Amino acid sequence: MLSTPSWPSHGGQSAALLQRFGLPPDYPLEDFSANLNPLGPPEWVAEALSSQLLALKHYPAPDYGAAREAIAAYHRVAVEQVLLTNGGAEAIFLAASLHAGQKAGVLAPSFGEYARACHAYQMPVTSITLPAPAFALDLDAFVAALEGIDVVFLCRPNNPTATLISFDDMQALLARTAAINCRVVVDEAFIDMTVGRGEAASLTPLLVDHPHMLLLRSMTKFFTLPGLRLGYVLASAPLIRSLGARQPPWSVNQMAAELVAPLLADQAFAERTRTWLEIEHPRMAIALRAKGLEVVPSTTNFFLVRPNNALREGGLDSNVLFERLLQRGMLVRHTQNFSGLDGGWLRIALRDAQANHRLLKVFNDCLC
Ligand SMILES: Cc1ncc(COP(=O)(O)O)c(C=O)c1O
Repeated sequence: MLSTPSWPSHGGQSAALLQRFGLPPDYPLEDFSANLNPLGPPEWVAEALSSQLLALKHYPAPDYGAAREAIAAYHRVAVEQVLLTNGGAEAIFLAASLHAGQKAGVLAPSFGEYARACHAYQMPVTSITLPAPAFALDLDAFVAALEGIDVVFLCRPNNPTATLISFDDMQALLARTAAINCRVVVDEAFIDMTVGRGEAASLTPLLVDHPHMLLLRSMTKFFTLPGLRLGYVLASAPLIRSLGARQPPWSVNQMAAELVAPLLADQAFAERTRTWLEIEHPRMAIALRAKGLEVVPSTTNFFLVRPNNALREGGLDSNVLFERLLQRGMLVRHTQNFSGLDGGWLRIALRDAQANHRLLKVFNDCLC
């Protein structure tokens, strides 16, 4: 007898879910499970990539000088403080590799790749779980839990809660972790889609005074290039050298590296993204609540939700809702494999106005 396929560990993996729920592989689905900017990639990217085809005959420049210079100028840091990576995912694994065999802490619920990277480097992982439904950080309790931990991973804004630890709390946390010799790895994969603040919410200005911090960045979310793979690390020059020594050569392909400078320079795309977020985000937050969902206050381009108390008491929990949405062609992100959520919530990506509208209409049939 065939066993039920397990829950896939990332968004966008519809095939396993369709099989799990006995639906045909070509069942039409709209994807609200992957947290990508719906406006991208920028239109000029396809042509820029095809004009690069001849360059495939050559190895990329090993230090990615031009791409790193563009990133350094964008963030006003030294080029020695930048490492180009094959997506934020490679940055996570490189950060873990610095602490092979040591003790790691992970703020939970959060992105599962931190724990996976730590396990790959034989690092025992302590999950420090923020309580639902606010998922608020208690700084004293958090610092107390870091006793004996060598490196802690956290995500800001956090996937999947969409909450953001405040700049002041991060400053206090950095001072206290420096005192106990605990490295802090902050994943800023969604920082450029922070509602109302964008790039201004980044901790980049704190790098100068906090050399024990690493900032991990992804360019695949904001520019909608998950298939291309592009990310980077910002940290002190000595830390960047250590990470670089652990990175496989030519880890980032030439076509991706060539895109870095023009992507960062595309202010029109950034402006369009800001406008979309400022309009659609508050509209969806209000509409989802009005449909009967409990919505964790979100600071970025996705929402963590569950049916409200009254609906849950009537037997409509997130598992039921997930399946009803799937049957009606709407794929949202389950939370079965987010430690601390265990399937009790659903994550919904913010999409363009028409798609969001279609989802809201489907909720009318599912939340009753
Ligand atoms: C919080 C977080 N960090 C990093 C990544 C990896 O992004 P990339 O596509 O840049 O490897 C993801 C992807 O889902 C993510 O959610």
